[in-house]
Parts: sequence; C-alpha cells; structure tokens
Amino acid sequence: MTAQPSGAMPVRIHGSNPLIGDVDVPSDKSMSHRSFMLATLALGQSRICQALDAEDVAATRNAMVALGADIQPDGDDWLVTGLGIGNLQQPDHVLDFGNAGTGSRLTMGLIASSPITAIFAGDASLQSRPMGRVLGPLSRMGATHMARQNGRMPLALQGTHEGLALTHDLDVASAQVKSAILLAALNVMGRTTVIEKAPTRDHTEKMLEGAGVVLEYGTHEDRPMVSLLGPQQPKARDWTIPADPSSAAFPMVAALLVPGSDIIIHNVMMNPHRTGLITTLLEMGANITIESERLEGERIANLRVRHSELHAIEVPASRAPSMIDEYPILAVAAAHAQGETVMRGLEELRVKESDRLQIVHDHFVQAGVHARIEGDDLCVTGGDVVGGLTVDTHLDHRMAMSFFVLGMTAQQAVTIDDMRTAETSFPGFAKLMGRLGAQVST
Ligand code: S3P
Repeated sequence: MTAQPSGAMPVRIHGSNPLIGDVDVPSDKSMSHRSFMLATLALGQSRICQALDAEDVAATRNAMVALGADIQPDGDDWLVTGLGIGNLQQPDHVLDFGNAGTGSRLTMGLIASSPITAIFAGDASLQSRPMGRVLGPLSRMGATHMARQNGRMPLALQGTHEGLALTHDLDVASAQVKSAILLAALNVMGRTTVIEKAPTRDHTEKMLEGAGVVLEYGTHEDRPMVSLLGPQQPKARDWTIPADPSSAAFPMVAALLVPGSDIIIHNVMMNPHRTGLITTLLEMGANITIESERLEGERIANLRVRHSELHAIEVPASRAPSMIDEYPILAVAAAHAQGETVMRGLEELRVKESDRLQIVHDHFVQAGVHARIEGDDLCVTGGDVVGGLTVDTHLDHRMAMSFFVLGMTAQQAVTIDDMRTAETSFPGFAKLMGRLGAQVST
C-alpha cells in the first residue's frame, strides 16, 4: 500500500438509492489553472469568476502570487493584477504544486522564457511523474534545469529572456506539453510551432485567443499544428469558468448504473476535445440528453442522465485524448455493461496521478470484475460486481471517485482508504454523492 498522509479520510460506500434531482459539479480544472496564468501574464486587472476552488488550482494561484501577481478575493471571484510577459519575479520560496500536474507543467512554460529561477516540488504522486516531456522542448528554447533522475521533481528551472523559437514535434498526445511551449513562446522572438501527435484539448489556444493573442493553425502530415509568432502580450479580461466535464463524469456514470436514477447536471462544458466519455456512453446505450446547449465562450449544456442498461463496445485509441481522464470511471461503467468492453491505446494512463491502467485492473480483479490488460488496452467484462475491497487511491483523486461509484453499485461495501484525495479537483464529492443517494459511512 502507498503511505497516505496523516489525516487520511477513509470512507465506506455500501450501495445507493436512486440518484434524483439537480446537480452542480465544480468548475473546470484545466481552464481554472489557465485563467490564473493568463491573468498573471496580462498587463492590468482580470476578474476570474467561478474558478475551481480546489487544492490543485490553489497551488497554481499560490505559485502566481510567488511570481509577483497580485491576487485578491472579491466575493466569490478573484481579482488578478498581472505583470506582463517578461516581468515575472523570482520566487523566494519553493513552488509547491501538491498533486497538480497541469499547474506545474504549464508554469514551467511561464518560467522558461523569463530570466528567473524557480524550484518545483509536489507530493509523492507529482514527484513520480515524468517532467522530461516538458523540460525537453523548454531546454531547446533556452531554459536550463536540474532535476532528479528521469526529469522528476523536485527540480530547478532557470529561464531566459533570450529564448529561442522552435518547432516541436510532440511524441506524446499531451495538452500540457503543447500548452507549456505556447505559454513560453509568448515571450520569445520568432515563430514557435507545435505539431501534435493527435488533437488534444485546446483550452490554451482558445484562452490565448480570447486574450487577444494571434495563433496560426495548420496541419503537418495530417496532424494538427499551431504556431505563435512572439513576442505577444495577452490582454487582461474577465474569465468565467464552466463546470468540469471530467467531474460531471462521476455522477453521470453513477446515475446510469443505479436503477431508478434521473438527474440533470448543469452548465457542463462541452468542448469537443473533452466529450469523448459522453460519445462512448451514448454508443453503449446510455440515456443522456444534451439540453439547453449554448455558447458562452465554450459550448455549455445541461445533461439529463437516466438509469440505462449498458452494452459493451470497443473504444478506439483515437478517442483517448478526448476522454483521457475518464477511463477509470468508464471502466466502472464497463464493469456493469453486457459483454466485453475494450479500451484501446491507454499508454498515457500509466503516467497520470497514478498508473491508472495497472491500478484499475488490479483493484477490479480484487472486486471480482473480469479485467485484463493487453499491451496498452484494457478489457473489462461486465456482470455482477462483488466489491468488498479496500481501495488504495495512490494519491489519485480520480481513482478515489471512480471506486466510490463502484461502491454504489457493488454487492459488498467498498472502502476508499483516503477520500481526501478528491479535494484536488472535486471538493465535497462524498457529501454531494451522499446527498444524491450514495450510502456512505466514515
Ligand atoms: C490537462 C491535460 C491532460 C489531462 C490533465 C489536464 C490539461 O494531461 O490528463 O488532467 O489541462 O492540459 P496530458 O497533457 O498529460 O495528457
């Protein structure tokens, strides 16, 4: 078992009543991180409304303060007075990113093209994650670093105001790496181009454009390509963050699986690079209706979700980037679907907050679910789920929340060793699910 921090909060889930009613889930984590960064890079004051109030984003907000931004609460909003590109200040303490992969990797982009040095640290999960994928291209842009073996944190990164523009051909499908390079490119003279391995979430591009930055798009051998001709100064503006589709995924799957359920999840962001789970669940026979769809910067909708009998499908590898964080909860849905669901091309799952491919598999076997790993594919055969296990969350919020939902639908109770891990992205998750119908005891 992974050592959990003292103050761990074990919970026991033993079934569920039907989930009924209206549900609000927390704001989008990806956009929240980016809003604080863009507001810091802007000149003047930005207002951030409905930012995710969770540990990961707090780590990014604290880092932006350490880099010199003035960030003040104003009711439920945040007022950020930015410094302008090239003006970040040298932090006088270690930037502790806790569990936040996105916060830390994108901030490395900010540092790389500023003449300052920053030290990055995090929790045991973050310190085990590969940073070389970001440090590689940032080094080619002129930054220097010193890291533990294989580019692991804690690490020191020294930026430069004489950064070099580059063309980087990504060998992983990663929005974080793409974003770190684009953010660095803001303060670099010349054209920086990122060629993606496969299309990934485009929040950085859309938000940069929303702040007045000009980007150019193209393709290279059928792969998407984006360029930024630097330097460019993002403008201060107001940001409003919609609900996180990755957080909506948990009540959504719970409602599909628990008989008699009928819920509406409000204001969910429907960016097409984030809706792979909905596409997949619809193919599996899910009763999900997309209601009141509208454009508010991003496409947003309410989702009505009713209990459904699901059937197995094959999920193509090409869909992985649009649902990369949703495989653990999809696997829970697959454990109840008729037939064998095959989820292809999951190599990136091995380097998330935990090795999600292995850990989902191992816990499924303990829970009496037929699961196997074939190369980078996960195969899950649906049926009755026994449960009756204690889940080691490995400091992984999505593991905690996915197995919580498994506990709502299993024959025997499921214990989560530390539900506190959910606080990184979904504060109050257990309480919300309890209010909706989950039977939970601490
Ligand atoms: C994110 C990108 C994805 C995702 C992460 C958030 C982002 O990571 O898993 O939770 O906000 O850019 P990768 O870029 O490593 O795929």
